Order: sequence, then C-alpha cells, then structure tokens
Amino acid sequence: MISPATYDSYDDDYADIVTETILSRHSVSPKVLEAPGPSTDQLRTMIKAAASAPDHGLIRPWRFIDFPGRSRKMLADVFERALLERFSDADDEDRRRAREKAARAPTLLGLVAQIAEDEMRVTRDDQIASCGAALQNILLTAHAMGYGARAMSGRAVRTESFRSAIGLADNEEFLCFIAMGTPSRCGRERQRPEPETILSVWEGWSQ
Ligand SMILES: Cc1cc2nc3c(=O)[nH]c(=O)nc-3n(C[C@H](O)[C@H](O)[C@H](O)COP(=O)(O)O)c2cc1C
Repeated sequence: MISPATYDSYDDDYADIVTETILSRHSVSPKVLEAPGPSTDQLRTMIKAAASAPDHGLIRPWRFIDFPGRSRKMLADVFERALLERFSDADDEDRRRAREKAARAPTLLGLVAQIAEDEMRVTRDDQIASCGAALQNILLTAHAMGYGARAMSGRAVRTESFRSAIGLADNEEFLCFIAMGTPSRCGRERQRPEPETILSVWEGWSQ
C-alpha cells in the first residue's frame, strides 16, 4: 500500500496491478448480472472509494442511494409513473418494460450530484467532474472485487415523478444508477482509442 505521506513503499508490481485493473474494466449489462452482489462491507468499501474522488473545494458534490431488493417493487411503480409522465398513451408492453428495469441486478445504487450553487470557487462543471470520478472509483472497485457493473441513466430519472419519489432537492441531479452483480457470462472487452488519437502536445498559441 502506498502511504499518503510518502511514496516509499511504491513498487512496480503494485502499479501493474492497478493499471491492469483499470485497463481491463468494462461495463456489464444489468440483464446478465446475478446474485450475489457485493456484501454490505464491500459496498461500504466502494462508497469509501467513491469518496476518494478528487473534489474541488472539498464540498462533496455526490451522494449515493441504495435500492435494496425490498424496494424494487416500489421502484418499478416509479418507473411506470415516469413513463406515463412522458407518454400518457404508453401501452401494457411499454409499462412492463419500464417496470422490468427495476428488477435487474442484485445491487442497484443511485448516484446523485448535489450541486453547491452558492459555491463561488467551484463551478458546476468541476462538481459534475468530481461525480464522474466518484462513479469511476465505484466501477473500478467493483471490477477489482470480481463484480460486473454498469452505469445507466435513461430518461426516467429526469422526470418530475421520479425526482419527487426519490426525494431529490432542487439543487440535486440523479446522474445514474449503478447496477452491480455477478456476471452470468463474460463481458466483451472494449476497443479503446489509441493514446495518440486523443493526446496532443501544445506548442504555443494557436494561429
Ligand atoms: C453517467 C452515465 C450514464 C450512462 N447511462 C447509460 C444509459 O442510460 N444507457 C446506456 O446504454 N449506457 C449508459 N451509459 C454508458 C455505459 O454505462 C457504459 O459506460 C458504455 O456502454 C461503455 O461501456 P464501457 O464502460 O465498457 O466502456 C452511461 C454512462 C455514464 C457514465
């Protein structure tokens, strides 16, 4: 473990493991996530990892909501209402599909951005970026622990019925769900961009 005060205990093996964990992470569809999900202790570790995200001004612009199995039927009701808010003429099949999403994955977390609007030093962009880092820390920790995970937002989370059912304050945005569980089949490794295609070197003022 690298001490926060010094880098004395740094070694190449440690760097290799961390880098390999990051490079091999990929999302797994909630449709193939089965029990068991992370234990209570593992979930706590994931939230600790999330709270290690870079955070301008240390304002903690993130919070998390656990949706345990016992809440999923109510969550299905919320998804159905959110659908009807958007499409009042949704048919039975649309409703069934909206409800079904609440049942997927043994572990479901919500990531909420709580934006400090009166914070002069820290822009909204900085706060959302911190939420993204917190999300990635959870996805990486889940991957390191052997779980599959995926972030999902979708249109429902922007509806008034969803916002009020979840109890979001005016300054809060529900950024996404994070589905986690044991993958029933292997996910596909993603093709990632070559570094040269996304890295440039600034040589001075642009013309
Ligand atoms: C905040 C956030 C919300 C997302 N919401 C959705 C979504 O609603 N539907 C979807 O298909 N992918 C969504 N994604 C993308 C997937 O989670 C995933 O990152 C993407 O499919 C790429 O896979 P990878 O993580 O293996 O690179 C979202 C990603 C983020 C960061």
